[in-house]
Amino acid sequence: MSKFYLTTPLYYVNDKPHLGTAYTTILADVISRYYKTMNEDVFFLTGTDEHGQKVQEAATKRQIEPKVHVDEYVIEFKKLWEKLHIDYDDFIRTTEKRHSDKVKKILQQLFDDGEIYKDKYEGMYSVSEERFITQKEAEEGEFRQVKKLVEENYFFKMSKYQSKLIKYIKNNPEFIQPEGRKNEVLGFLNKPLNDLCISRPKSRLKWGIELPFDNNYVTYVWFDALLNYITAIGWDHNEESFRETWPANYHLIGKDILTTHAVYWATMLLAIGLPLPKTIFAHGWWLSGESKMSKSLGNIINPLNLIDKYGVDSLRYFLMKEMVLGKDSTFTIDLFIERYNSDLANDFGNLVNRVTILIHKHFNSRIPEPGNYNEIDLELIGFAKTTPQLVIKDIENLKIPDGIEKILILMRKINKYLEVKSPWKSIKSDSSQRSEAATTMYISADLLRICTQLLNPVMPNKTTVILKMLGSTSIKINNYSTNLVKVGQKLGNGKSPFPRILI
Ligand code: ME8
Ligand code: MG
Repeated sequence: MSKFYLTTPLYYVNDKPHLGTAYTTILADVISRYYKTMNEDVFFLTGTDEHGQKVQEAATKRQIEPKVHVDEYVIEFKKLWEKLHIDYDDFIRTTEKRHSDKVKKILQQLFDDGEIYKDKYEGMYSVSEERFITQKEAEEGEFRQVKKLVEENYFFKMSKYQSKLIKYIKNNPEFIQPEGRKNEVLGFLNKPLNDLCISRPKSRLKWGIELPFDNNYVTYVWFDALLNYITAIGWDHNEESFRETWPANYHLIGKDILTTHAVYWATMLLAIGLPLPKTIFAHGWWLSGESKMSKSLGNIINPLNLIDKYGVDSLRYFLMKEMVLGKDSTFTIDLFIERYNSDLANDFGNLVNRVTILIHKHFNSRIPEPGNYNEIDLELIGFAKTTPQLVIKDIENLKIPDGIEKILILMRKINKYLEVKSPWKSIKSDSSQRSEAATTMYISADLLRICTQLLNPVMPNKTTVILKMLGSTSIKINNYSTNLVKVGQKLGNGKSPFPRILI
């Protein structure tokens, strides 16, 4: 059976993970969990990008060996993903042998096929920055110790695939998403495409995968890192498990690394002779004030502080509900608290408390037996029945906030329904009215269960707590049909796990 394969970028281990890196990883986890509920055989890959200049510099700064540095920093990533309940299927480090061996094999194959050649590169080089700079950068004069440098390097014949790639992008509208990003790539491809320099002389950079055909060089970090998407699943053209998994369904990335994926990676795959991923999806940035949250700007938010204060699930919820995929979003604590209080404490939490408290108090903590349904009951049930499919459709279209909003709309309707029917009034009166109250409570509990299950991929922990409160632990998590709460089922104890945050 073919797999549903999705990936995050491999994050640089030059610094600790932050809210931006956590976002893409949570997004991948949420999508992965939704697809699992649809019975897809999901393979979710994440990992770390451990070679190259940035990482070497970080290690030099700490006066330790790069290997010691990366071994320490990878733990920070793994620890945070565990705390965030990221249920990945594999974690690849580019310093692992399973990766570097295959990278060398691919490089050798491309070299033998004549896809890689050696050439002289002449350009302006900043000794202090240790990199080639563009003519424009040189003119702007912001760089020190600039000199003309001639260096021999290896190049990948990327330009050769330019027209093929343009055609592919035009013929496969789902390949680069959202639409605006696709146009950006096509715009980039309108200008002549250069070949890609894929080597760094060891005199300049030692921390990398040695070229199999010239030990004076290491591989350019992007050429190395992008290959993880196929090395992690055991690339080999004939390997069955590889063919079941490749091509990926989604490469989830931020818009900062669109060109490297849509152009470098795509042409590399064309050269290797493999199909292209079905979708590269580039989301926007989390901003801190006006600017991108980034390690180099030092304006990052550490997710651990938020988790400790407000809980993992509320953070996952906020990030998923707030960012329209493709657009930028601003992160502020005020927005976070506002969203939490309105959606989780108010809409969700109040509903949980109302339903469970009434059943505990008036029905001996057991799901009551419903009587006849009236029009108001049937209308709500009819609406609720359409919700799961609509939510799943939004998830499939990567409209995560829309999908979540549809669940909230149903919750608000249940809250409204409870107000209209006011079971707390009729509960105490004669038996016919008591039976109507029982019907109301049965329906509310059942539909609240559906909402809770629908939110499970976003908030795996808290929804499980609520399902237990509803006595629904035995129901399969992805069962969205109505009438699944059992009459007589005893409710669990506890209050809504979303207490209001006081400001
Ligand atoms: O680029 N908002 O690694 P990286 C949203 N190693 N997402 C953000 C973000 C922000 N402010 N900041 C970072 C690299 N991200 C390469 C990738 S892939 C083979 C190699 C997320 O550590 C977003 O997914 O700089 C972005 O693309 C990624 O982190 C960059 O991580
Ligand atoms: Mg970056």
